[in-house]
Amino acid sequence: MNWNLGTLRRTGISGTLRTTRTLGTRNWSLRTLRRTGISGTLRTTRTTNPKQKPDEDHLVFGQNFTDHMFVMEYDEGKGWHDGRIIPYGNISIDPASCVLHYAQMMFEGMKAYKTADGHVQLFRPYMNAARLNRTNERMCMPPIDEELFVSAVKATVLADIDWVPSKPGTSLYIRPFILSDEVSFSVLPAKHYRFMIILCPSGPYYAGNMGKLSATRIYVEDEFIRAAQGGTGFAKVGGNYAGGMKASQKALKYNCKDVLWLDARDHKLVEEIGTSNAFFKIGDEVITAPLGGTILPGITRNTVLTLLKEWGIKVSERPLSIDDVCAASENGTLAEVFATGTAAVISPIGTLCYKDKDFLVNNNQVGPLAQRLYDTIYGTQTGKVADTHNWVVRIC
Ligand code: COI
Repeated sequence: MNWNLGTLRRTGISGTLRTTRTLGTRNWSLRTLRRTGISGTLRTTRTTNPKQKPDEDHLVFGQNFTDHMFVMEYDEGKGWHDGRIIPYGNISIDPASCVLHYAQMMFEGMKAYKTADGHVQLFRPYMNAARLNRTNERMCMPPIDEELFVSAVKATVLADIDWVPSKPGTSLYIRPFILSDEVSFSVLPAKHYRFMIILCPSGPYYAGNMGKLSATRIYVEDEFIRAAQGGTGFAKVGGNYAGGMKASQKALKYNCKDVLWLDARDHKLVEEIGTSNAFFKIGDEVITAPLGGTILPGITRNTVLTLLKEWGIKVSERPLSIDDVCAASENGTLAEVFATGTAAVISPIGTLCYKDKDFLVNNNQVGPLAQRLYDTIYGTQTGKVADTHNWVVRIC
């Protein structure tokens, strides 16, 4: 389909595209944007075979994908080009492609939400764009202009706008990713990449009651590690997650939903919970691990830190040992533990299983702070709570 100028303006893709904004590593000229297909008419091929939409009451995270997807290519010397929306489907890739052997890739995670009055909106998408470029820099992959990234996300969501669910606790999960598909066995950065965006209507990541928090049980992993200083822990790359699966499998054997990661050197400092950042409320202080190498700079993490400071709650980004967490559980000062992430939103933890012993958090109940954060953040994302920080970006 050809998009008319009105539609393109509304999505921010044509006339209103701010081409001089410098948020990434460079300014993009209009010529460059034209080459990407994003500034003129975004080539869109609509599916002739739309899928049946899943039941909103039983949405499982990452199981059902929408009718369309975004694809854009990169060639060294030419840059990003040929952005387009096509029917969702299999992609063809040479078996000798770099990504299949050396895992030069990255991904992002974000969501689109429907408000009660029918608007669809994103939450802090420029933070995803900035993080994408930090990951790309670490992985020797080419940057993507932040405005271009957000425009591509908007256009993809707009193509499948009817797929954005509206039941409490649901959203349209957006998965942008980049893969290196140069045919080469040299262990060197590729010269050809594909940037794609796929979408899936989703329920809660830790399946519980839709829109209602419940406390989960977490295994404290003191054998395997997620990230080490100088590695890729702060970047959003598939290898971080593949390397974590062994521990997640082990956690299941202990009847736990996921793991609490400890630091790579001493296996003592708490780091992340599963695929999310981790927060601990001990007495009056809320503590989370400091950024700086091994911790993913989560957008929800940043949102939580901002809100807690505004609410006058003492919050520290500092090292915290698992021994202090267990001692706090035993002396009754471990008020709350929760995981934060795009997929997980706010996920309260009720029990930590460490060295074959259970440490209870808030008597295994959802704490008031986790509930308040969830209500404020999901409320802002879905338009129930006023967006006083300009975090929301409307699509339509
Ligand atoms: C997200 O929260 O978006 C993530 O990337 C976690 C995902 C691996 C399930």
